[in-house]
Amino acid sequence: MARTIPIQLAVGAHTPKGLITPFAQAGESQLTSLPPLSLYVHVPWCVRKCPYCDFNSHAAPGEIPEERYLAALTADLDQAVPLVWGRTVNTVFIGGGTPSLLSAGALDQLLGLLRSRLNLLPDAEITLEANPGTVEAARFKEYAASGVNRISLGIQSFDDASLKALGRIHDSREARDAIEIAQKYVSRVNLDLMYALPGQTLEGCLHDIDSALSFGTGHLSMYHLTLEPNTVFARFPPALPDEDLAYDMQDAVAERLGAAGFEQYEISAYARPGQRSKHNVNYWEFGDYLGIGPGAHGKLSFHDRIVREARLRSPESWMSQADSGAHISESRRVTAADLPFEFMLNALRLVDGVATTSFSERTGLSLAVIAPELRAATERGLLDPDPTRIRATPLGRRFLNDLQGMFLRDES
Ligand SMILES: C[S@@+](CC[C@H](N)C(=O)[O-])C[C@H]1O[C@@H](n2cnc3c(N)ncnc32)[C@H](O)[C@@H]1O
Ligand code: SF4
Repeated sequence: MARTIPIQLAVGAHTPKGLITPFAQAGESQLTSLPPLSLYVHVPWCVRKCPYCDFNSHAAPGEIPEERYLAALTADLDQAVPLVWGRTVNTVFIGGGTPSLLSAGALDQLLGLLRSRLNLLPDAEITLEANPGTVEAARFKEYAASGVNRISLGIQSFDDASLKALGRIHDSREARDAIEIAQKYVSRVNLDLMYALPGQTLEGCLHDIDSALSFGTGHLSMYHLTLEPNTVFARFPPALPDEDLAYDMQDAVAERLGAAGFEQYEISAYARPGQRSKHNVNYWEFGDYLGIGPGAHGKLSFHDRIVREARLRSPESWMSQADSGAHISESRRVTAADLPFEFMLNALRLVDGVATTSFSERTGLSLAVIAPELRAATERGLLDPDPTRIRATPLGRRFLNDLQGMFLRDES
């Protein structure tokens, strides 16, 4: 059973940033400043459900009910806005599902809705996720005209046999076309690839990387294919490369991308200089985000508490209940006992980690609260000994779950 460590917390609006007074009331956190704020918008529909995917995504019921979706999104946002009054929204991520199924007109209305209700930074990073099988050149052009300035394409692989084994709706030709179309209209393009695919060899994996590099895009997300519960692949598992081969792939990918000028800045994320995803970095730095749409999650800080929210997952339930406010399935204060683990769950994914001072800034807790765990993890070679940063060593990244688990604690 995890040991419970007495927690000292900040009090008073005049506490200097990052400094915690010893007179705090146990069990509460007090923040001296609020973190940057992002917005996540969930679009829950796809052409069909991929057998490996456990995202909140649903085969589209013929036409997407755009009008009902936008009306519900308006109601959802209107009720959420008071929680973020006066705050600037730095980034927007329209994810799914497959947001590129939205018509250009619907996407334009969506962005108009956000601008009318939120204090959106004029040059905010606005990312839209797209599936190559749903890309039309005209649509991308109009998305960009509406303000989308970053496109994230779910490529997965450039190998037709792999795409088929993954149940994708597109082939490699369509994937290539989609990349070229995206590059024509926005300057920042991310490609999602997966590795350790059914029957994949190390050469096959590197061939995917080389194909991706040939387009000169600035960002690559490289995910290890995992068998998620409640998916078709969990019920009927395909033959996958073993763990050793998957690690070899991971190492070879990092080396190949490094040689091509990409920096690995997170477990699965690689970028050329200046091309990191600001939106995702905000998650990993334990920033705030409002999440709207079915199944969307949010994390919002207030001076005296940090709150996590979730929306109903079913698109139909969320759409029919957004007006009444019953679309919020969860809204809970994160306890002081949970904050260290939640912070580490994110921060330790970043290759450069985070400034040590950000622990107190973002959680409102004294660094003393986690001092024993920091020391133990450093002694085990899992954390960098540099006192100014909280950063996993390469060994710590390899055993990330164990490292993060050291910050779990029992509330009793
Ligand atoms: C919401 S999807 C991206 C957009 C679009 N729906 C698509 O699939 O093209 C997010 C990404 O998560 C990754 N992903 C989904 N399920 C995964 C799994 N079981 N294991 C690893 N990565 C997964 C895929 O790379 C996918 O592109
Ligand atoms: S298209 Fe993307 S979100 Fe939809 S089921 Fe496939 S992986 Fe999941």
